[in-house]
Amino acid sequence: MSESRVPRLRRFLVCEPRHFGVQYAINPWMNPDTRVDVDLAQEQWTALISAYRAHGHSVERLDPVPGLPDMVFAANSAVVVGGRVFGSLFHAPERRPESTHYDLWFKTAGYDVHRPGSVVEGEGDLVWTGRYLLAGTGFRTSREAHREAQEFFGHPVISLTLVDPYFYHLDTALFVLDGGHDGNIVYYPEAFSPGSRDVLGRLFPDAVLATRDDALTWGLNSVSDGRHVFIAPQAEALAARLAEQGYQPVPVDLSEFHKAGGGIKCCTQEIR
Ligand code: ARG
Repeated sequence: MSESRVPRLRRFLVCEPRHFGVQYAINPWMNPDTRVDVDLAQEQWTALISAYRAHGHSVERLDPVPGLPDMVFAANSAVVVGGRVFGSLFHAPERRPESTHYDLWFKTAGYDVHRPGSVVEGEGDLVWTGRYLLAGTGFRTSREAHREAQEFFGHPVISLTLVDPYFYHLDTALFVLDGGHDGNIVYYPEAFSPGSRDVLGRLFPDAVLATRDDALTWGLNSVSDGRHVFIAPQAEALAARLAEQGYQPVPVDLSEFHKAGGGIKCCTQEIR
C-alpha cells in the first residue's frame, strides 16, 4: 500500500533557534522557570532540517533576531497559498515584532505581503488542505481574520472553534496528510466545539481520529508530504496507525520546543 503514497516536494521557510527560550507564558505549556537546553534545541532543530532535506524538500532560512525567543515558530508568521502571502498580527504583544522580520523576508524574496487588520497567527490557525483553508479561532486568531483571509485568497475558509487551551492553535489539534485536492486530515475531535466537530465530520468522513494522548504528545503538530510524516517520536501510537495506512513516519524529536508549546509543524512555514 505504501507504494501508492506519493510524496510531493515542498518548499519550507524556517528560523534557527539561536535566541530560543521560554521567557514568558502565553499558552499552558510555557513556564518561564523551565530551563531550556539551548544546545539540545539547536541540535534537535538541525535534525529536523536535515530530515526535510534528506527527503528532498527545499528549506530556506531567515535570520533569528535577539529578544524574539518564539521566532523559531515560523509557521505562525504567514500563510502562503498560490504565491500569495497573508501576513500575521500576533495576539501576544511579545510576539508582534516578529512580523516585521518575516514580512521583510517575503518582500526580499519577491512577494507582496498582505497586512491583516485583525489578530491572525499564520499557519498556526490557517491550515490549507488543498481545497479549503481550515481556520481555528477561540484562543488566538479572530473570526474577522477568517473573513479577511477568504476575501484575500478567494478559497473557502471554514471557521472552527477550538475549546481546549492546551490546543490553542489549530495546528496543535489537526494536520493534513495529503495536500492534494482531496487532502485527508488527522485531528483530535475533543479539541473542537461540538458544531465544529460536526463540520469536520461532514467534510472529512475518512479522517484519522486522534486521541488526547496523540495530541498531548505533539503527534498532531506533524508535517506530511503525502508519504512521509515528520512526527514526534513521543506520538508512537499515532505513528503506528499512520504506518498501517501506508504512510512512512519519520520521527523527529523537538522536546525542547514542546516547553514553549511548539513542535515540528510550528517550526515549519510552507511556501506554496
Ligand atoms: N510559544 C509560542 C506561542 O505560544 C508557540 C507557538 C507554536 N506554534 C504553533 N504553530 N502552534 O505563540
